[in-house]
Amino acid sequence: MKYNFDQVINRRGTYSTQWDYIQDRFGRSDIIPFSISDTDFPVPVGVQDALKKRIEHPIYGYTRWNHDDYKNSIVNWFKNQNDYEPNPDWILYSPSVVFTIATFMRLKSEVGDGVAVFTPMYDAFYHVIEDNDRLLMPVRLGSAQQGYQIDWDALETVLAQHNTKILLVTNPHNPTGKVFSPAELKRMVALCQQYHVFIISDDIHKDIVFSAATYTPITTYVQKNVVLCCSATKTFNTPGLIGSYLFEPEEALRSAFLVELKQKNALSSASIFGIESQIAAYNTGADYLLQLISYLQNNFDYLSDFLQKQLPEVTFKQPQATYLAWMDVSKLGLTSEALQSKLVNQGRVGIMPGKTYGDSQYLRMNIACPISKLQEGLRRMEQGIRS
Ligand SMILES: Cc1ncc(COP(=O)(O)O)c(C=O)c1O
Repeated sequence: MKYNFDQVINRRGTYSTQWDYIQDRFGRSDIIPFSISDTDFPVPVGVQDALKKRIEHPIYGYTRWNHDDYKNSIVNWFKNQNDYEPNPDWILYSPSVVFTIATFMRLKSEVGDGVAVFTPMYDAFYHVIEDNDRLLMPVRLGSAQQGYQIDWDALETVLAQHNTKILLVTNPHNPTGKVFSPAELKRMVALCQQYHVFIISDDIHKDIVFSAATYTPITTYVQKNVVLCCSATKTFNTPGLIGSYLFEPEEALRSAFLVELKQKNALSSASIFGIESQIAAYNTGADYLLQLISYLQNNFDYLSDFLQKQLPEVTFKQPQATYLAWMDVSKLGLTSEALQSKLVNQGRVGIMPGKTYGDSQYLRMNIACPISKLQEGLRRMEQGIRS
């Protein structure tokens, strides 16, 4: 099956957060969005077929996730994609990755304890840490030119503090797209074991990895004091269908999570469409993923070329993973607010300010769209900056 990712599909009028509610983020609605991380691509045909079939059955009752069809689809996906075989007993369902992160944060730390993170980082993490009354313990990643390397001394200093109870990692990392290497993961694990710090690894971006890098699940190296959270929703563009999963190797922690999921929050009955779409995506979506990665690579090549020729003041290095372009705009010499005003009011384009992720010297552009939209967006970006 050949997918046509060039096809432009109008998303307006679908309650789309990215398109219909763009004004909430940028203050006006007459702009093209490159903001929240979903894609402008249709889901795989196998997913569409599974959903259509399920819709034809006109009863949409409470739905179980705890069965072989669900778990085997995940095990096989990791086996085929990552040469890694998780124990099916480790797999639990969760309504969202961020729900899993928040729940484990509350299970494994107390109010006032510290959560170590690599910054810049996905904006929801700032909220989940601070609004759960935990302390943010940032460790800054190095520059793009240095491969966003980890400052091991800074990490150790943070982990060694007596109130640091959790290390929250995203692998691959949002917004830089860094894929943590086996050596980095092993060293992180060793430090966390030394200082009794629980690891939460958010691997939601694990599938979209470009040829130069290889993703490794952290549970390859550690099966104690760790949870790995993941979901098919980024890769296959199904976040509106709801659903994610986790690998928790320790039985006591699985039980504790299930008490939270079932007893305390009554969230254990899954979305029918979330379950159906995830099974279908993992069982039939390998070919889609290959074509998606190749399409995104081409979009990144176009963006690199455009910036070199038209906007050489903006520095960009192709990420190892994700569909997020993390662009260094420091040479423009503008404040984040001044740059946003130019982009939004003159260029009429919505590109996320790096400030949202903890670095105002950057912009984060979601390039998971038909190339015609990217071309128009970059043209508008140039126009706005030159205005
Ligand atoms: C790193 C990361 N984690 C989690 C999410 C959201 O996942 P969920 O909707 O399952 O909470 C995103 C979405 O952009 C993300 O980039």
